[in-house]
Amino acid sequence: KKTYHIAVIPGDGIGPEVINEGVKVLKKVAELDGRFEFKFAYFPWGCEYYSKHGKMMDDDGIEQLKNFDAIYLGAVGYPGVPDHISLWDLLLKIRKSFDQYVNLRPITCLSEDVCPLKHVKKEDIDMLIIRENSEGEYAGAGDWLFKDKKEEVVLQTGVFSRKGTERIIRYAFETARKAGKALTSVSKGNALNYSMVFWDQIFAEVGREYPDVETYSYLVDAASMFMVQQPKRFEIVVTSNLFGDILTDLGAALTGGLGLAAGANINPERKYPSMFEPVHGSAPDISGQGKANPLASIWSASQMLDFFGFEEHSKRLIKIIEKLLKETECLTPDMGGNALTGDVGDFFVNILESELARQ
Ligand code: NAD
Ligand code: IPM
Ligand code: MN
Repeated sequence: KKTYHIAVIPGDGIGPEVINEGVKVLKKVAELDGRFEFKFAYFPWGCEYYSKHGKMMDDDGIEQLKNFDAIYLGAVGYPGVPDHISLWDLLLKIRKSFDQYVNLRPITCLSEDVCPLKHVKKEDIDMLIIRENSEGEYAGAGDWLFKDKKEEVVLQTGVFSRKGTERIIRYAFETARKAGKALTSVSKGNALNYSMVFWDQIFAEVGREYPDVETYSYLVDAASMFMVQQPKRFEIVVTSNLFGDILTDLGAALTGGLGLAAGANINPERKYPSMFEPVHGSAPDISGQGKANPLASIWSASQMLDFFGFEEHSKRLIKIIEKLLKETECLTPDMGGNALTGDVGDFFVNILESELARQ
């Protein structure tokens, strides 16, 4: 029996609440399948850990995670610890240390009932946003000059390397080719006269190697409008780190909210572990009340199953999410219901059991 070793970092706020349900589902999938099992190792890192130890993770934390098959993370960041410290010392540190340069964020309408767009049908929203996840606007480069003087100036430098830009764009072309879908690049070459001019140039360059892939290129401002008005325009989307961050929350809103938005941080070479986490944060406004929607985190778990080669299971979990979204008693408050986080996980596992038992 194959064993997958998963490092679980529940993190802050609703992180542990939603991760619990994802782990419940993963355990049940493995148990019902029988060919493999999961071993979960928990890491108590996050803002509470920081308040006790003065750091977000152990000094050798990256070393501790290195040999796991995957990392499953809830959310990081909580009032009390400055956000740039909590995020740079844990979440962003993992993404960067493990060269998880591909961030896969599917934006798919799973239920018209929870989609706020009245003018579109379910099948009109079905895109995959491929976000550059290792550099760009998130390079962490900059300077703070003349601090607290009247000449004070801060610099936040975007870093777009040829290697970093080419590899994400190539990954997107490969994905589009395999799926037989169009690829759209979202950039901003009119105003960002270095980084995005370079991005557009590389998109065109790499594109010449993929004459079979239909391509589009939009400026990020117009793309934001099109995403709401005509989401059907988008199939596979490739974009920079910051634009991808913003567009995927917008995408989440299109399909029903952050409670439904999943993400995978992939190191395609599989040299280091990849990390699976919902798009949302720790939601301090609802944490500790059992109100968090665990479906985003369960969807991220399904991305993990897909990554391990269990495509059937991955698809099954998404079908079950679609099913749950049709039942009022299975909806958390963000979806218009009163179900508790744990109830949704229990309903999920019940459906999984009855479906697999029938086979
Ligand atoms: P957030 O995603 O935590 O919350 C935004 C809004 O969406 C809130 O109203 C929240 O209640 C709601 N929401 C989010 N997830 C939900 C879910 N699963 N079910 C129901 N409602 C949900 O964003 P924020 O409030 O801007 O950030 C809070 C903290 O989280 C900050 O410290 C931020 O830096 C951090 N953050 C972390 C991550 C991450 O770990 N990947 C992502 C985003 C934000
Ligand atoms: C996300 C989050 C992170 C990001 C933050 C918390 C650093 O918003 O995963 O979308 O900007 O990448
Ligand atoms: Mn974000």
